Amino acid sequence: MDTAAPLRSTPPKAVLFDVYGTLLDVYSVGLRAEQMFPGGGERLARAWRDKQIEYSRLVSMSGRYRPFWQLTRDALEVCARTLGLTLDTASGDSLMNEYRHLSAFPENRAVLLALADRGVRIGVLSNGDPDMLDVTLRSAGLIELIDPILSVHATQRYKTDPAAYALGPQALGLPASEILFVSSNCWDAIGAAWYGYTTLWINRADAPMEQLGIQPTRVGHSLRDVLEFF
Ligand code: LAC
Repeated sequence: MDTAAPLRSTPPKAVLFDVYGTLLDVYSVGLRAEQMFPGGGERLARAWRDKQIEYSRLVSMSGRYRPFWQLTRDALEVCARTLGLTLDTASGDSLMNEYRHLSAFPENRAVLLALADRGVRIGVLSNGDPDMLDVTLRSAGLIELIDPILSVHATQRYKTDPAAYALGPQALGLPASEILFVSSNCWDAIGAAWYGYTTLWINRADAPMEQLGIQPTRVGHSLRDVLEFF
């Protein structure tokens, strides 16, 4: 762990994880894209992820919610066109299908089991819509360890809208400060910190800290760093 902010004397009572990139490895999407478009797939995958998040913010800011699955599909189409890649329906379906069958990071299952052993409640809070989350968490073999599964779909607002983060305290009946919110997306950890959660940014990619006037409570490199809070 990089930053050693003093921990509260009492550990958090629950943990909420982000899903895409945090619990589930989205790397396979880039791999599949690279097989389809040698030399251009990685670029497509990166642009796709950025566009997906950009669209989530645009529709949220304008009160024009559309489910994450739809945004993700539309973002893929536009990125392929921008990069001059010909994406037929079958290839588009195949890339979207990767989102349903993402692998969990190798350490995850053991970390979730260790948390459950310590009596910590474990949930997720994700931009993914309920169908996407159900299929993908089931496919990754994690679903039976997670309750609640919170989707921003219920609020029609994407992270970092406070309404999205409010789902956690509402569902768990705890103040945000007693919930540890864990994300590999720095902006997501910061959004949760603004809301009042205790936060851990898992900086898997060795990225610089976002400069937004606030920092996550702690920074780690793998899901194992969650256990240091308990
Ligand atoms: C999520 C995206 C932001 O699962 O990773 O919410």
